[in-house]
Amino acid sequence: MPQSLATMAYIVATILFILSLSGLSNQETARRGNYYGMLGMAIAIIATTLSGAVSSTAYPILIVAILLGGSVGAVLAQKVAMTQMPELVAIMHSLVGMAAVLIGFANFMDDASSLSGVEKTIHEVEIYIGILIGAVTFSGSVIAYCKLSEKISGKPLLLPGRHFFNLLLLVAAIGLGWLFLHQCASGEGCLPQLMLNHGGALPLLIMTVIALTFGVHMVMAIGGADMPVVVSMLNSYSGWAAAATGFMLSNDLLIVTGALVGSSGAILSYIMCRAMNRHFLSVIAGGFGTGGGGAAAEVVGDVQPINAEETAQLLLAAKNIMIIPGYGMAVAQAQHTVYELTKLLREKGKKVGFGIHPVAGRMPGHMNVLLAEAKVPYDIVYEMDEINDDWGNVDVSIIIGANDIVNPSALDDPNSPIAGMPVLECWKGESTIVMKRSMASGYAGVGNPLFVMDNTRMLFGDANAMLQEVLKVLKA
Ligand code: TAP
Repeated sequence: MPQSLATMAYIVATILFILSLSGLSNQETARRGNYYGMLGMAIAIIATTLSGAVSSTAYPILIVAILLGGSVGAVLAQKVAMTQMPELVAIMHSLVGMAAVLIGFANFMDDASSLSGVEKTIHEVEIYIGILIGAVTFSGSVIAYCKLSEKISGKPLLLPGRHFFNLLLLVAAIGLGWLFLHQCASGEGCLPQLMLNHGGALPLLIMTVIALTFGVHMVMAIGGADMPVVVSMLNSYSGWAAAATGFMLSNDLLIVTGALVGSSGAILSYIMCRAMNRHFLSVIAGGFGTGGGGAAAEVVGDVQPINAEETAQLLLAAKNIMIIPGYGMAVAQAQHTVYELTKLLREKGKKVGFGIHPVAGRMPGHMNVLLAEAKVPYDIVYEMDEINDDWGNVDVSIIIGANDIVNPSALDDPNSPIAGMPVLECWKGESTIVMKRSMASGYAGVGNPLFVMDNTRMLFGDANAMLQEVLKVLKA
């Protein structure tokens, strides 16, 4: 393929990626956004393969790799449950990080490079930064995966002097960077036994170990409740790792795509931080989700259970109903039943709305995706800020498998691990029905005083099964 055609294809792919991102920003256009992204990626792969960047002798390897990777991806995508999406996303970020590290080392070992002078130094800086960001992304994402899939505890690991340790790692990485460039120029520091027969190999390897350690330490220090920020932050890192790889390979499209992912991930992290009332820099430094240092207050009081029939009566007597879905709705796959109930209540003249917390569920937009799947109209789905001043007008709020996002202790217990996180203040409405299976805590592992408030009733059981029962009574 002539270079001019490849450049044209890259521009088209870039435009498609931008259209994809703008499509994904709105539920009504999200499907179209996905198609744009898929088309852009197909064009990018074909153009890169045919542009001369890949020698034709490598085509068979490339085809086998694409078929193998594509099949693994297709099988995983079919099998993964909606509730496991965040884990899948985290492990995918780790692959981007690993690719950046491997490409960095491949570039470092490449003898065919004809660069010299300043260009050579710039290329070496690209390699160093690419491996640095890639290694942090890789190990951080693996730990995030383990935390999200509960393979390791979500509790923050707070080493004494951790900020000093982080600073030490940063200073070491900068110092090693200087040594790396110096040794690359002088040809010192080869490690022929490891096939790293180039000056600077030793500092590069030590920096990689440091970056891997930093990734592990950074995510280990972040508490369960702050994982949403970590997931979006690693998303951003994976974009910057890809952009750094683009610089290494002199591939403009990879630079643009990486920058798009990196900056949109950074914007998402900022939105997440705002939603959780955290400072971005403090999250990166770690140690969040630990509260003020003391123990969160115990929840004391009597629980008032309610059954499906009483719930139906309460709903029939109400005029204004607010539904708050959480992670449990995803587990119970109750979204279709919720919408059936909504339709029935609206037919009976009730005003029904949905209140969505920005970190409800386990990934950004989790609840919106589920409600869109059940075809809930967008105009009755409200963001937290739109409804938090309006609870005085709500007669009944139904909390479906949500816990942390409706926990009043976030506002009034400074020792709580979720202290300071804005929550949906449903207890300010006339009455609240909480649907869950037990008194178990949510993701952040803290007790919820909402469950023992005077105007709260607990409807115990699987959310879908209980909603079916309520529906049956209402239909009868
Ligand atoms: P959680 O606080 O995790 O509470 C979910 C509740 O659902 C649990 O208490 C559980 O109680 C209940 N549940 C589970 N299965 C159920 C079922 N089949 N039927 C009925 N109830 C069921 O969820 P949330 O309120 O949505 O808050 C989200 C939390 O996840 C926050 O702490 C947030 O920081 C964190 N997080 C969010 C994200 C993003 S980006 N959204 C990413 C990672 C972490 P029972 O076991 O008693 O039923």
